[in-house]
Amino acid sequence: EIGKITIAIDGPAGSGKSTVAKRVADALGILYLDTGAMYRAVTLKALRAGLALDDEAALAKLAAATALEFKQTADGSYHLFMDGEDVSAQIRTAPVTKAVSAVSAVAGVREVLVKQQQRIGRQGGVVMDGRDIGTVVLPHADLKIFLTASLRERAYRRWLELQAKGDTVTIDEVEEDLKRRDAFDSGRSVAPLRPAPDSVTLDTTALSIEEVVERILALASSSFCTMQEG
Ligand code: CDP
Ligand code: CDP
Repeated sequence: EIGKITIAIDGPAGSGKSTVAKRVADALGILYLDTGAMYRAVTLKALRAGLALDDEAALAKLAAATALEFKQTADGSYHLFMDGEDVSAQIRTAPVTKAVSAVSAVAGVREVLVKQQQRIGRQGGVVMDGRDIGTVVLPHADLKIFLTASLRERAYRRWLELQAKGDTVTIDEVEEDLKRRDAFDSGRSVAPLRPAPDSVTLDTTALSIEEVVERILALASSSFCTMQEG
């Protein structure tokens, strides 16, 4: 049944993964898992503990000792609890965004989080977004999407969000930050950001959120038909 479908959505920052993944999950009545939020939470904890971002052993140990849980609130939004504390807002702050790529390049950290993600993916009925979902976490996903958009467009989207929060950062600064993070995520040796060979790439530069969601839902229903045949 389509309620058991697994959908992997990967792509660079600001391509629309989490916005679109949430809507696709709601439309299909299935779970949404934001794997980036998990890496951000471990990063927040590491910063609070004052760990050096190149101390791989300490970072891996910290990840293994962290309890992560997503809860959907009455208004439909997802909140992440780290060791029982709601860290949803804190994980989006600039220091975390700056440090997260270094923490998520640590193999031992990935091992811990990927295992948790796979445990959730095994039950089916999930849309997961991140960088390595189609390549590493869910290599057998029923549908794999690689979302992209031009760097300028992605920077503009992120800048609009920051403006709404009262941040006075410039669009050029946001663009520099995205560029640096994309290069780091694509260039690392463990689980680099890249499209899975069997993924469908959607360039969302000139598409609305609704158009992207519709395309993914159409792909989901056709992959569901082949699931039934196969
Ligand atoms: O939302 P945004 O694109 O800013 O980033 P995110 O999805 O919250 O991910 C934050 C960072 O976590 C990324 O820049 C990656 O370094 C890392 N990440 C990862 O390595 N693997 C994943 N599956 C998800 C995120
Ligand atoms: O998760 P990721 O970093 O890939 O992107 P996001 O956090 O969902 O942010 C994407 C931003 O672009 C949001 O503010 C969306 O409203 C907006 N947007 C989009 O997601 N998709 C479009 N086709 C157009 C705009």
